[in-house]
Amino acid sequence: MTSGWRNRAETIFKPGRKIVRDLTVLDHLGGSRKVDIYLCRSRELDDVVACKVLRPEFRLDFSALAAVLHEGELLTRLRHPNVLEGYSVGLQPHPRIVMKHLTGQTLETTFFEGNHDAFQLSDFVEVASQIADGLTYLHGEGILHLDIKPTNIMYSDGHVTLFDLSVAKEFDPEEPFKDNAGTRDYMAPEQTTRGYVGYTTDVYGLGVVFYRLLTGGNMPYQTVEIASDEPDENPTKQLDYASPPVPPSEVNSSIPLEISDIAMRALALDSKDRYGTPAEFKAALHRAASLTVR
Ligand SMILES: Nc1ncnc2c1ncn2[C@@H]1O[C@H](COP(=O)(O)OP(=O)(O)OP(=O)(O)O)[C@@H](O)[C@H]1O
Ligand SMILES: [Mg+2]
Repeated sequence: MTSGWRNRAETIFKPGRKIVRDLTVLDHLGGSRKVDIYLCRSRELDDVVACKVLRPEFRLDFSALAAVLHEGELLTRLRHPNVLEGYSVGLQPHPRIVMKHLTGQTLETTFFEGNHDAFQLSDFVEVASQIADGLTYLHGEGILHLDIKPTNIMYSDGHVTLFDLSVAKEFDPEEPFKDNAGTRDYMAPEQTTRGYVGYTTDVYGLGVVFYRLLTGGNMPYQTVEIASDEPDENPTKQLDYASPPVPPSEVNSSIPLEISDIAMRALALDSKDRYGTPAEFKAALHRAASLTVR
């Protein structure tokens, strides 16, 4: 395993320090502006675990605190083979989620930083199917993930686990998405514009991941910079929805048209034109794969 310490000199807990009495830090696994994820030894569980900890400067930030507690509540309640399992949530002295340590590497590292050629179409179909299974479970529990992307999906020996439920929310068809959350390149237009998000919003995220798997890492829509009217302001970045994605079968002639079409339908800009649910996506994928993938 590569150590995260080198990339994150400012991490709060160094190896050997305790987050709470039960949890001794072994390594730094990752993090973002508000949280760090540590590999820890749990004396109580007699095992290594992963622990997501809110960085101390955000302890009085109510929305950051609420986000950790909400994610912790979801991870400790939900149980599915393709969704990360949470063990416990704690508040004092450091707001945290204790969860299963996922071995393996993210999809990003495995497929887009690693040797993409080492995998076959049947591997991409399998990965997409397992993401669909995890999403189908979450949706059945009334939860939208809303941040499906390769760095939020772990891959280990052909097994896929969805994690990072920090953007996830309860599905409410009456309420527009109001958070400024998600990852632009993987977000359906209705999430970017804070419209009504639903099951098909996660189908879009799955569509971006599947498109990248099929094309060796290409993004379906390109990012463009829009100059600001104000002289001092930096340009804003947007996706160029006016230029439709190049179908995967045109990027790579070994991808059957039937499979390529599935990625394209999942990426439709109008949510009504996508598969209605991840289960519909998976059923269509399996139909196409049974005809075309050996
Ligand atoms: N349970 C886990 N087991 C192993 N590694 C993990 C685990 N949870 C998180 N990580 C590592 O930490 C990184 C960041 O975790 P996570 O995506 O949950 O945090 P985040 O702050 O919401 O990140 P981002 O904003 O970058 O999406 C992951 O990409 C992964 O490498
Ligand atoms: Mg993440």
